[in-house]
Amino acid sequence: MKTYKIAIDGPAGVGKSTIAKRLASLFHFTYVDTGAMYRTIALYYIEKRLPLENEEVVLSHLNDIEISLRYIDGMQNIFLNGKNVTDLIRTPEVSTGSSQVAVIGGVREKLVKLQREIGEKQNVVMDGRDIGTKVFPDADVKLFLTATCEERAKRRMAEMREKGMQASYDEILESIRFRDENDSNRKIDPLKPASDAIMVDNTQDTLEQTVERIKNIIKERLK
Ligand code: DC
Repeated sequence: MKTYKIAIDGPAGVGKSTIAKRLASLFHFTYVDTGAMYRTIALYYIEKRLPLENEEVVLSHLNDIEISLRYIDGMQNIFLNGKNVTDLIRTPEVSTGSSQVAVIGGVREKLVKLQREIGEKQNVVMDGRDIGTKVFPDADVKLFLTATCEERAKRRMAEMREKGMQASYDEILESIRFRDENDSNRKIDPLKPASDAIMVDNTQDTLEQTVERIKNIIKERLK
């Protein structure tokens, strides 16, 4: 059976997950957040106090990690060896760690395999860094979102403050720059637009405007 795949890639803080969730709900597709999978791998090493920047150590434990997704009230929940870690993976430490484990080929292979299995079973809107280039090079629609890092830091700060979390603009900006650099310059499947991706710069747009813009692109493509 043919399943439809909508790939949404772009850097940290560009609004991928919020936008992808909204699109998934509009088109009745399943939303898959692949960043959550890299974050879950990072969490495993952080909890075990293992050095996640050490490739040999990371690879020697990879088979002990089982990741699964379950949808509860329509929301993606992620499980690490049977434990729901959906909320635990949103700390700054896990953000940095996820970008570090993501440079390791074995980690990427494991997660790309899982992502492809999910996409073969159902229609998906999948967000990440390499969905259009590696996971689904044959995706029906590929979008690559961008916005300046200052704008992304501003949005991330507002989001954190809304959740009652302490946030400093300078720290957030630095973390975004670190991840941009790390994600874009890694050897394996770096963050970069597929040659046939549609570029959407949303620096000047509200969330509503971006969703509307992309919704129309997808409708046109899926006709
Ligand atoms: O989307 P996010 O910020 O939750 O992703 C966390 C990290 O995981 C990101 O810095 C890089 C990595 N990642 C990746 O390499 N490939 C993906 N498809 C998704 C995320």
